[in-house]
Order: sequence, then C-alpha cells, then structure tokens
Amino acid sequence: MSELIALEDCFEDVIGKACRGLAVDDGTLSFLTGVEEEVIASLKEGKFDEEGARALCSTLSLDADCLVAMARGEWAPAPVALPGLQQFNSDYRGEMTVNAYLAWDEDTGSAAVFDTGAQADELLAAIDARGLTVGAIFITHTHHDHIIELDRVRAATGSPPVYVSEREPLRGAERFAPGRTFQAGGLSIATRRTSGHSVGGITYVISGLARPVAVVGDALFASSMGGGVISFAEALECNRKELFTLGDDCLVCPGHGPMTTIGEEKAHNPFYPEFKH
Ligand SMILES: [Fe+2]
Repeated sequence: MSELIALEDCFEDVIGKACRGLAVDDGTLSFLTGVEEEVIASLKEGKFDEEGARALCSTLSLDADCLVAMARGEWAPAPVALPGLQQFNSDYRGEMTVNAYLAWDEDTGSAAVFDTGAQADELLAAIDARGLTVGAIFITHTHHDHIIELDRVRAATGSPPVYVSEREPLRGAERFAPGRTFQAGGLSIATRRTSGHSVGGITYVISGLARPVAVVGDALFASSMGGGVISFAEALECNRKELFTLGDDCLVCPGHGPMTTIGEEKAHNPFYPEFKH
C-alpha cells in the first residue's frame, strides 16, 4: 500500500489556477458573477465561503460540488497497491513534495524510472533491494523539482538512456516525439503529449502490470492539475484528449500529491465538469 499523501492543492489553489489560466482578474470576475471583490480575494486566501465559491464556478468552468468537497476535506483518492509499481515522495526545499515512480516487470526484473524526485535515496534503495535492472529513465517534464537527482540516479543505475520530449532538450537525454513506444522487459510504455503546464509535457502509459498506469507529471493531480504555465487551454485540451480517454481503471501517477484513477478524476476533479453528469 502506498503511503497516504495529502492532496497537492486546496480549493483556493484551484480557484487561483482557473483565474490565472483564464486571465480573469478579480474585478472582472466580480462583474461576471456578482460576487464582491473582497469575497473573491478572501476565497483566494483560503477563507471558504460556500455561497461565494459556488457563484464563481460557472464562469471559471469549475464543478461547484467538487470544489466544495475539496474545501470541506471530504474527498481523497482510494489508496493504491499495485505489484510492479512504487511511488517515491520527497521534499523539495521544504516548500512542497514531489514524486518519482519506479515500474518493473516482476518476471525479468527489468525496470523503468519516471522522474527522479528531489531526493532519490529511497528510489535507489528500492532498486537495489529488489535487484532490478533499470533499462531507461523517462522524464515527464524538465522542471527542476522533477529532475534534480537525474545525474545521481543515472550514475547509480548503470547509465541507462534518459528519454525526454523533443520540445524540452536536456543535457545527456535522448529526445523523442510523443507517440513513440518503449519496452522494459514485459512492460510496454506508450507516450502521449500532455503539454500546457510545460512546453513538452509527456505522459507515459504503462501496459503489462495488473492494470494500466499513466505517469502524468504535472498534467493532472488528484482533484486538480498543474498550473497552465505555458497554456491553460492547451493543458485542459491535452488532458481531455489524452488522459480522460484512458479507461476509468487506469491508475494516474502525478508529479505531486497522491495517486488516483481516471474514474475518480472524472467524478471529483473540479476542472472537468463535463464528466459529472
Ligand atoms: Fe512542473
């Protein structure tokens, strides 16, 4: 069973990401929704006001019931245990935590690493303890918190190839176009473009374990998503096209926060109201 990690985002993060993504300032949002600017400002500071929060949701394309459930702490994804998959959660500068993942074929001991996290001790210890051979390191995106231990992980695992999106060059890594499929023992790893949070964000879809797994980086979080740093519209569109078309039982492994599933995100992620009815 994986450790229970708190949700990455609170309701105020969701409201803030939607406002920034849609480029709506508080004055405009107040005009569009009738919610006073002071109420909007205090919601963004984390002071929950259900009536005010609900009144913003239609304009921000958020599902109101899901946002309220987040504010009340009523929902978290079910804990996950999947043989051949392990999540590693490490602290980044005392500001947040970040995830790395290890997937392996139990028959052959062939393994793949996905991102490195901010501190790779546990990841490297697990590879050692299980006697795994790392065939490749896959990078979801090149934001610093996800690759800070790359040189160390690579050196400690026999210098396997490192793969990264063609749109995010990284020293020592081989670039590829999404759509390419890789093999790690009996595991097949397909790639999809989930950009918008970063220029070349990649989701790795692993087949060969007891259920499908999508390592999504910061494209999608449990009941939230990474900020649309490059393009919020592109991030939403990629997720709709490339993630929400995966099966409901597909496990989602985000770069921050707990693991979840496509089915749970359809039901609980406020950024995707279209799946709620
Ligand atoms: Fe990121």
